[in-house]
Amino acid sequence: MLKNKEGQRVPDVKFRTRQEHRWLDLSSSDIFAGKTVVAFCLPGAFTPTCSSSHVPRYNQLAPAFFANGVDEIVCISVNDAFVMNEWKDNQRADNITFIPDGNAEFTAGMGMLVGKDDLGFGKRSWRYSMLVKDGVIEKMFIEPEVEGDPYETSDADTMLKYIAPDADKPLSVSILSRRGCPHCARVKQLMADSGIEYEELILHRDYSDRSLRAISGASTFPQIFIDGRHIGGADALEAWFVSKVAA
Ligand code: BEZ
Repeated sequence: MLKNKEGQRVPDVKFRTRQEHRWLDLSSSDIFAGKTVVAFCLPGAFTPTCSSSHVPRYNQLAPAFFANGVDEIVCISVNDAFVMNEWKDNQRADNITFIPDGNAEFTAGMGMLVGKDDLGFGKRSWRYSMLVKDGVIEKMFIEPEVEGDPYETSDADTMLKYIAPDADKPLSVSILSRRGCPHCARVKQLMADSGIEYEELILHRDYSDRSLRAISGASTFPQIFIDGRHIGGADALEAWFVSKVAA
């Protein structure tokens, strides 16, 4: 039975991190003292759910967390410092501090160390998140104790809703573009002027003409998608901005 530790202090341990090719030991105090920290803890670096959802969404929502009183977001896993550093780079998760709990002392102290021998993983962290203020755990979201690797409550959206139910969340924007296309330059400028972050997918590097037609039903550039909705091209995006201002 995994215990909720709300109201208690986080375990006092030493983390062996690597920074600039040198060992740098961080204590729990270095990470948590005098700060408001969101920590999310997961079973392993480079594993599918952790890489495709858990880390990216915390990284994407980081500005909303920071705007609502959170000083730092940390990701803790029972992995060594080299693996955690590679994973951070690979994820381009610049807003998150990756903490290696290689000896599992923090995870064991939290009562969250579980056997994943069936996967050949040995002992790992159960998936959970917590809001920690000056070293004291205010809130925990622990995944239900069911078979496998549930991912229902420790996600970034649930934590942000707890901290700031009305927080503005950044839009998820993708632009399918083509090199040298003036309308693509126009929409990127529009996004930049509006302070909206976007991901750009470039024809023949990230997708093909066939995929453009399959995804958008169009064969012109750019094609813009926002929060799961196909907006269309540059003119449609301008109309979308006008409708947002009017709303
Ligand atoms: C996952 O993140 O998908 C995962 C984590 C631990 C074991 C297997 C998969």
